[in-house]
Amino acid sequence: MKLSVKFLFSSLLFLAYAALSKAHIEVFDEYWQRKVAQAHNNTLKAYIPNPEFVVNQFNCAANL
Ligand SMILES: *[C@@H]1O[C@H](CO)[C@@H](O)[C@H](O)[C@H]1NC(C)=O
Repeated sequence: MKLSVKFLFSSLLFLAYAALSKAHIEVFDEYWQRKVAQAHNNTLKAYIPNPEFVVNQFNCAANL
């Protein structure tokens, strides 16, 4: 029982530290910066400016 209380307290402490630490990993890590740029590019590529086209495509696919 005593061990589990210690374990629970340590876990909570660890989680609180992880949540409150402001490491800004995503700002400094070049892997994640590349992923952000790729995601941004993919979002721009996937954007279709004409909503009617999208609705018609959906209706065709749904056989409406
Ligand atoms: C994102 O797009 C820009 C311009 O099209 C390009 O210069 C850049 O290399 C692209 N980035 C990635 C990660 O694909």
